[in-house]
Amino acid sequence: MGAHREHGVDVEELTVADAPQVAALESVTFSDYPQTQATYREPLTEAGAAGLFADGRVFGIRRNGQLIAVTATSAQGDLTETHFTSVHPDHRRQGLATVVKAASILANADAGHTWFGTGGAGTNAGSIGMNEAVGYEITETWHTLVPPRSDDRLPS
Ligand SMILES: CC(C)(COP(=O)(O)OP(=O)(O)OC[C@H]1O[C@@H](n2cnc3c(N)ncnc32)[C@H](O)[C@@H]1OP(=O)(O)O)[C@@H](O)C(=O)NCCC(=O)NCCS
Repeated sequence: MGAHREHGVDVEELTVADAPQVAALESVTFSDYPQTQATYREPLTEAGAAGLFADGRVFGIRRNGQLIAVTATSAQGDLTETHFTSVHPDHRRQGLATVVKAASILANADAGHTWFGTGGAGTNAGSIGMNEAVGYEITETWHTLVPPRSDDRLPS
């Protein structure tokens, strides 16, 4: 697939040869993913990054040869699910997450896919903003219940 050009930004489909760059970008962004019960995340190794290409498709944006944005999807039955999207901290709030994710969805739509899903922590304003900009709607939410601390209990 050729590169998409949207808003003056080239989005390209990455290949397994890019797995080390994907892993390097994820090592920079890892601490910015909210770790919640429903969105727990392990660090992405190079082998894990290579596995993304075996299971699905990965799109990215480079600046000066450096990978600065990435998004990964795979088909799970009829559903095309985005595993993650990230942007290097030095390049955020420029619409790059929205652009790379939108290009990935369009490429998958071009390939005949019609049903798309994505997840994210409710506390992750960047994730929610990106997904709303791409056009996702929130259809379900997960709530984690924890027992009250003893000093939160009402007197009996
Ligand atoms: C989430 C993330 C990918 C957003 O990347 P980005 O390129 O900065 O996002 P965009 O510029 O496309 O932002 C789109 C919209 O999201 C919202 N948004 C983005 N970052 C935000 C933030 N830190 N706080 C509040 N809103 C935010 C805004 O509404 C923004 O639109 P605007 O800039 O016109 O107001 C980036 O912060 C990141 O890599 N975080 C760590 C990884 C992660 O949490 N990924 C998402 C879960 S898979």
